[in-house]
Amino acid sequence: MKVSIIGTGYVGLVHGAILTKIGHNVICVDKKRENIERLKKGNMTIFEPGLKEIILEAEKNGSIEFTTEIKKAIDNTDIIFLAIGTPEGEGGKADLKDLYTCVDEISKYITTKKIIVVKSTVPIGTCNDIEKILRKKIKDIEVLSNPEFLREGNAVNDSLFPERIVIGGKNIEAINSLKKLYLYFEEKGIPFVISNRTTSEMIKYASNAFLAVKISYINELANLAEKVGANISDVSLGMGLDKRIAPYFLECGPGYGGSCFPKDTKALFEIAKENSEELSIVKSAIESNKRQREKVVQKIENKLGGLKNKKIAILGLSFKENTDDTRDSPSIDIIKKIVNKGGKIQCYCPMGIEEAKVKLSFYKNIDYKKDLISCVEKVEALVILTPWSEFKNMDLNKIKEKMNGSYFFDFRNLYLENKNIRKLFKYYPLGNS
Ligand code: UGA
Repeated sequence: MKVSIIGTGYVGLVHGAILTKIGHNVICVDKKRENIERLKKGNMTIFEPGLKEIILEAEKNGSIEFTTEIKKAIDNTDIIFLAIGTPEGEGGKADLKDLYTCVDEISKYITTKKIIVVKSTVPIGTCNDIEKILRKKIKDIEVLSNPEFLREGNAVNDSLFPERIVIGGKNIEAINSLKKLYLYFEEKGIPFVISNRTTSEMIKYASNAFLAVKISYINELANLAEKVGANISDVSLGMGLDKRIAPYFLECGPGYGGSCFPKDTKALFEIAKENSEELSIVKSAIESNKRQREKVVQKIENKLGGLKNKKIAILGLSFKENTDDTRDSPSIDIIKKIVNKGGKIQCYCPMGIEEAKVKLSFYKNIDYKKDLISCVEKVEALVILTPWSEFKNMDLNKIKEKMNGSYFFDFRNLYLENKNIRKLFKYYPLGNS
C-alpha cells in the first residue's frame, strides 16, 4: 500500500521506515526544508540505532520519498498519518498549534475521500475535533487514532515487534483499511485493541503516566532503602518476579526525563482537571520526579560538604542511553542546580553534548569534554546520570588516577556488582548500601 506521513520526528520517521520494511511505500512530509534535504541525501535528522540502514535501503528501492509538499501526499495517498509534535504548552497542557496548522493545511487540499490517522500523542477528544474541522471541507473523511508506543533509543525494535496496536475509530471500513496496512503485525500474532477514538487517545496517556508513576514509586523506595539499609536492586528484583508487578520500569535513577513522560503526565493531569477530576496519583508522580532531581543534588552536596568551587564530572547528558535527545533530561536540570550553587562542571556524553550546549548556553562554569577521561581530569567527584554502555565498562584505575578526589556517585547503579569499586572510591550508589 502507499501511505503518507506528515512529520519526520522520532515517531514519523521511524514509522515511515518500518512501513517500508514491511513492504509498503511511504511519502514522508515535513515543512522543515533543511531536514527533508538531509533525508533525501541519506543523512539522518535524529539518531536512532538501526534507522539509517532501513531508510537507505528504502531510498535505494524507491519505497520512501521525502518532500515538503503536503499537497503531494494528499494527492497521492488515501491514508495520511499525522506525526506532529505536541510539546508541553501553557500550564502543562499539550501545545496543539503545529498539529492544527497541519490540519488546516490538509483541509486546503483534500478533495476526495481520505483516512487521517493520528499518531501524535493528543489530548482526549482531539481526533473528534480534527474530524469536525476536515468534514467542513469534505464529508468523506474518517479520522482514526493510532497512538505510538516506541521508546527512543529502541524505536526500530519496538516498532517492528510492538506489544500491541491500538486503533480508535468509528468507521469500520476505515479501521479495516488500517488493519490491512498492519497485516504483517496481525500475522505475527500482535494483539490489536480496537475501540473508539477517545479510548484510544486515553490508552496512550494512561500508559505513559502509569510508567511514570512506577518509576517515581521505585525512586521514592530507593531513597527510603538508603535510610533503612535495604538494597533497592533486590527490592526491585523481589517485586518484579511477581507477574502482576513485572520487572520493567523498576530501575531507580535521577528521575524520568525525555519528551514524553514529563509532558504527558502533566497533560493528563490537566485533562482530568478540566473534567473536574483529580488524578492525585499522577500529580504525586510529577512532584516526586521534580524532588528526585533535587535529591540528587542534595546528596552530592551533603557528601562533598558543599558545592562551592567543587569540580564535578557529569557523565551523561541525554535523558537516556542511545539517543542524542536532551529534552527534559534530568542531567540538564541537575547541572543547572549544581552551577547555581557554585559548583564547576566538566561533562561528557557520547551523543548529547551539542544539544546540551544549547540548553545550557546561559550557564557559566560548564566545560564540555570530548571524552570520558578528560571529563574526569582533576575533579573531586564523578556523577553517572545516564546509563550509556561506555559508562558501564570504565577503566576504574585510570579514572581514579585522573581524578583529584575519590567521590563516585552512581545514580544508575552501574557498578553495584564491581568488586573494586569500594576499594578505589568513596562509592555512593542509589538506594543500595
Ligand atoms: C516513553 C515510553 O516508554 C514509550 O512507550 C512511549 O511511546 C514514549 O515515551 C512516547 O510517548 O513517545 P521514552 O521517553 O522514549 O519512551 O523512553 P523510556 O525508555 O520510557 O524512558 C523514559 C525515562 O524514564 C528516561 O529518563 C529513563 O531513564 C527513565 N526510566 C525508565 C527510569 O528512570 N527507570 C526505568 O526503570 C525506566
